[in-house]
Amino acid sequence: ARLAVMASGRGSNFAALQAAILNEALPAKIVRVIVDQKEAAVIEKAKAAGIPVTLVDYHAFASRTQAESIILDRLASDRIDGILLAGYMRILSAHFVATYPNRIINIHPALLPSFPGRHGIEDAFHYGVKVTGVTIHYVTAGVDSGQIIAQVPVKIEDGMSLAALAVSIHEVEHVVYPQTLKHLLKEGVFN
Ligand code: GRF
Repeated sequence: ARLAVMASGRGSNFAALQAAILNEALPAKIVRVIVDQKEAAVIEKAKAAGIPVTLVDYHAFASRTQAESIILDRLASDRIDGILLAGYMRILSAHFVATYPNRIINIHPALLPSFPGRHGIEDAFHYGVKVTGVTIHYVTAGVDSGQIIAQVPVKIEDGMSLAALAVSIHEVEHVVYPQTLKHLLKEGVFN
């Protein structure tokens, strides 16, 4: 499968996916990384992996629709089969999502439908839940709302700091996202 990754930040999930594809010889190739933040560390990580990066500065466009049409054109010429969102901090329009039906996957650092949005780890921590976790789901035009593919719980032990929780969540993410990708490839979701 020819895949695009869309990311806004550090890119640790991108790196975990790329490592798994190489180390486990998964039948997939990340052919493009789309980034919306020019300072994002994921840009260097992708370049180091030899993967072409397209930076799309939404502010340079009059509307989200225009920014998305640049991305959609790029992905069409890349002939991608699917998209993995990995910390992409923007909502995709209904039109964008409909272009790749059931072929856009996201990772969220909480157990949806609890704690959607940008601050899933912090929100769960401050609420005081004893169990949070990681969710992989299909993407719809809503926020963190599509069908759930996989979930892994992470316990919040008494006295655990927010920083320690974040480390645990990210460790789990870096295992569950590649595993889920492997599973989806086996199921032929991107064929
Ligand atoms: C991850 O926690 C992911 O669940 C969330 O954004 C974060 C991205 O981290 N959607 P990274 O850029 O992959 O390191």
